[in-house]
Amino acid sequence: MQANKPIGIFDSGVGGLSVFKELIKSLPSEDVLYFADTANCPYGSKSNIEVIELSKKIVDFLINKNCKTIIVACNTATAAAIDYLRSNYEIPFIGMEPAVKPAALNSKSKSIAVLATEGTFNGRLYIETSQKYAKDVNLNVKVGNRLVSIVENDLINEPETKKYIQELLNPLIAANIDHLVLGCTHYPFLIPVLKDILPDNVEIIDPALAVVAQLKRILIKHNLINSKTEGQYDFYSSGNSSILEKMVSKILKFDFRVNNYSI
Ligand code: DGL
Repeated sequence: MQANKPIGIFDSGVGGLSVFKELIKSLPSEDVLYFADTANCPYGSKSNIEVIELSKKIVDFLINKNCKTIIVACNTATAAAIDYLRSNYEIPFIGMEPAVKPAALNSKSKSIAVLATEGTFNGRLYIETSQKYAKDVNLNVKVGNRLVSIVENDLINEPETKKYIQELLNPLIAANIDHLVLGCTHYPFLIPVLKDILPDNVEIIDPALAVVAQLKRILIKHNLINSKTEGQYDFYSSGNSSILEKMVSKILKFDFRVNNYSI
């Protein structure tokens, strides 16, 4: 039965856990297999061709493990590879959508910002969505250069991190933004620091919930909802897995071992 198979999810590292966290809350009966490409992280400054090659290897691994559908829980990999994956594999793929539309539609100050990697800003999806929905707002874009490595190296609570993020956000605050779209799945782990710095009226948009809602629609449409009572989780990393293990154990509330698999 297809429905009993696991859902695959991947990212360059721990960022996709921000999606995994929501996924297990709304679909607790699903088995999930998570792949973190820690050995090749970050993806943000890699070329499209490199990211497509890495995504192909991870997808082949997840399909060999029998995944019924795959979430590309990485905005950068979605930007570079989702078109390729959808046209070369048969299973459904769910990608990260840049949440420019809700931010632009709900903005009162008519000024919004997107924080993402270079690769995401260069992608077709971001360019099309922003052209379509952000015509009537002042759209501020910011590449969060060091943010992925801050999360991967467990430096979120360091004073230097707050200083760096303050500098990153200063021009956005000066531009009177009232919505900040998180365009990288690593960034939701920085929300406490972002909230500390941003004025209270700024809404932070984490697209994880919308992505999981889309996953649910796809599972229903293809008759793929798992009927078991409790999902099981498996984690793989292509490199050092200590931060992944630490963050997964925190989410699941028990000590978790990550498997190694080189791609
Ligand atoms: N989580 C990835 C994303 O959503 C991180 C990008 C990177 O590895 O640079 O874009």
